Amino acid sequence: MRRLRKLLTGLVTAGLTLAMGPLVLAQELKHPQTLLQPAGPQAETLYEAMSWDIAVITVIFVAVGLLDAFIMVKFKRKGDEVPENQSHGHPRAEMIAWAGLIIGLVIIALHPLRAESVFARTPASDQTVRVEVIGHQWWWEIKYPELGIVTANEMHIPTGVPVEIRATSADVIHAYGVPRLGGKDDALPGRVTKFWFQADEPGVYQGQCYELCGASHARMLTRVIAQSPADFEAWVASRKNPVVEPQNDVAARGQQIFMTNCSFCHTIDGKSTGTTGPNLTALGTRTSIGGGDLEMNKENLITWFSDPEAVKPGQKIMPKFGTLSAEDKDALAEYLLGLK
Ligand code: CUA
Repeated sequence: MRRLRKLLTGLVTAGLTLAMGPLVLAQELKHPQTLLQPAGPQAETLYEAMSWDIAVITVIFVAVGLLDAFIMVKFKRKGDEVPENQSHGHPRAEMIAWAGLIIGLVIIALHPLRAESVFARTPASDQTVRVEVIGHQWWWEIKYPELGIVTANEMHIPTGVPVEIRATSADVIHAYGVPRLGGKDDALPGRVTKFWFQADEPGVYQGQCYELCGASHARMLTRVIAQSPADFEAWVASRKNPVVEPQNDVAARGQQIFMTNCSFCHTIDGKSTGTTGPNLTALGTRTSIGGGDLEMNKENLITWFSDPEAVKPGQKIMPKFGTLSAEDKDALAEYLLGLK
């Protein structure tokens, strides 16, 4: 049964993938946002529920199709003859159809009910890592209240441990979700929504905002970086003692530019305290910039701060720093990338 279900799910998935091929191929699939590769207990339950649905629906589709084909061939009208003894109703066939329908519905209903119970389970608070997620147009502020860490867009978590998310918003309605981990809920201004997820294996799991929140809604990405508990502890320790001073002369010039132009809006722990934009402490350790839209490297960082709105349409808060000289831009990027 399990094998049949897997086969049917595989067939339907293959069909959908073929149909969506051009779209899928056009996307960067380094960190696929898909429910078909579950990486935690919640995502696993969702995947189970979905594959049972697909299996039941496929069986019904094929059975009805075959029956149709059989009837069309067997009872094809021949010439002008009118069949005699036309009759209505066939109690036994109807009973079988009803029974099949009810069994199918029960199978379809059971798994979401089980998923509900998995989602509703609140992990014991001494076993969780608590993370606050705050939606902004268009980036995610990420806080670890118990660890005293504030970061943006990229959430580090330990594997095998439930992560309790408390989501809210600083402006409009957003929704935080990471498909491969299964967790997802609204981030509403003035309210806190609680949910949890868990990653079984180390890896990078991409998610994004799931609620239309303005022009750059689609560019409001997030990455969950799941690490072994030991690596997570090491990350926490490094964040408690971050590199904030420039590591060379170019970076020293970059720091001056940062203090003059950026420090009023961005915090670097121990250096500046601006809160309008994301906290940039240890920015050089992040894998993406601009709300997860660009991979982290010097070229992209310069592209970003030279004209943020070109990357993130509708973005009006961060000014363009395109008028800085090429040398200054390079120095600023050098300094920021040196923050580890
Ligand atoms: Cu935030 Cu869509």
